[in-house]
Amino acid sequence: MADIRAGILGTGHSYPEGILTNADLEKMVETSDDWITSRTGIKQRRKAAPGEYTSLFAVKAARQAIERAGLEPADIDLILCATVTPDQILPSTGCIIQAELGANKAAAMDLVAACSGFLYGLTVADTMIQTGKSKHALVIGAEILTQYVDYTDRQTCILFGDGAGAAVLGAVENSHGILASRIRSDGRYEEQLFSPGGGTRRPASAETLAAGDHFFKMKGNELFKVAVRSMAEISREVLEEAGLTADDVKLFIPHQANQRITDAVASKLNVDTERVYSNIAMHGNTSSASIPIGLDECVEAGKIQKDDIVLLASFGGGVTWGAVLIRW
Ligand code: ACO
Repeated sequence: MADIRAGILGTGHSYPEGILTNADLEKMVETSDDWITSRTGIKQRRKAAPGEYTSLFAVKAARQAIERAGLEPADIDLILCATVTPDQILPSTGCIIQAELGANKAAAMDLVAACSGFLYGLTVADTMIQTGKSKHALVIGAEILTQYVDYTDRQTCILFGDGAGAAVLGAVENSHGILASRIRSDGRYEEQLFSPGGGTRRPASAETLAAGDHFFKMKGNELFKVAVRSMAEISREVLEEAGLTADDVKLFIPHQANQRITDAVASKLNVDTERVYSNIAMHGNTSSASIPIGLDECVEAGKIQKDDIVLLASFGGGVTWGAVLIRW
C-alpha cells in the first residue's frame, strides 16, 4: 500500500453571507463581546438565512475544489460528505451534492463524526485511493449548525457558525501526500455534546420540539479538557508514525473550536503561534467544515507551498478525534 499515496489536488470553501456578531448576541442572551472574545476568541460567525441549507454551500466548495484539481465532476468516483446537519434524513447529503454536481460516476455517502468528520473522510479516501478502489475522491465538511443552536443557551449559541469546505484527493508522487492519519472515538462520552431528539430513540413530536431536544446540548468544560488532551496525543502519534517531529511542521491547522483549545494544543506540541492557523475570530466553530475552510484559506493565501508539512487535528462530538499529516 505504501507505493501509492493520496494527496490533496484541490481545495475550496463557501459560507453564507449572513453574519452574526458578538454585538448581535449581546442583544439575545446575557453575554458580552468581552466574555466571548476572551473565553473563545470568536468575534463573529456566519449564519445561513432561512431557505439556505447545507448542500448549497457544499456544492459551491466542491465545484471550486474540483476545478482547482484540474478535473471535471465526472472524474470523481467517491464523494464523502461529513456533516451532522444534513439537508434531510434521506437521501444522504452526499447524494444530493452528487446530483447537483453531475458527478454521476461516483459513490456518494454521508459520514457522521461531528467536528472530526473531515479528517475521518480524508482517512477513508486515503485508504480507498491506496487500495486502488478510488482514483479521485471528493471529501466535504459542511454544516448549517445555527439551525440546531438554542439561542437562549448562552453557553452554546456563541460558538457555532455555518459553512463548507472541500478537498479533492488523488494519487501523488510517493514522498508527498498523506504521510500518516489516525482517527479515534469514544462513545462513552456521548452526552458531552449531543442532540437527543428527532431520531428513532426519541422521535420528533410536539413534546420533543417544545423541550428543545433537537438542539445541541454541551458540557463545555469537560469537552475542553478531553479535546486538548486527545488532539495533542493523536498529533504526536501521526508525527511519530511519519518519523517527524513538531519542528518539521510548517503549518498546524486544528479544528477551530475555541482559541484557548488551539493555544493549549499548540503549546503541548511545542508548535509556536506563527505556525498555527486560526480563523475562529471570523467563523466560530463550524464543526466538520472548520478544517477544510482553514485549509483552503491557507492555500489561497499562499501559506502552504510544495514540500511543506501540514498537520491537521480535530476533536468533536461522539466523542471523536483524529489527525492527518500531509507533505504538500
Ligand atoms: N457569556 C457570559 N457568561 C457565560 C457564557 C456567555 N456566553 N457562557 C457561560 N457563561 C458563564 C457560566 O454560566 C459560568 O458562570 P458561573 O461561574 O457563574 O457559573 C462562567 O461563565 C464560566 O463558565 P464555564 O463553562 O466554566 O466557561 P469556560 O471558560 O469553560 O467557557 C466554553 C465555556 C466557551 C463553552 C468552553 O468550555 C469551551 O469552548 N468548551 C469546548 C467546547 C467545544 O469545543 N465544543 C465543541 C466540540 S466540537 C463539535 O463537535 C461541534
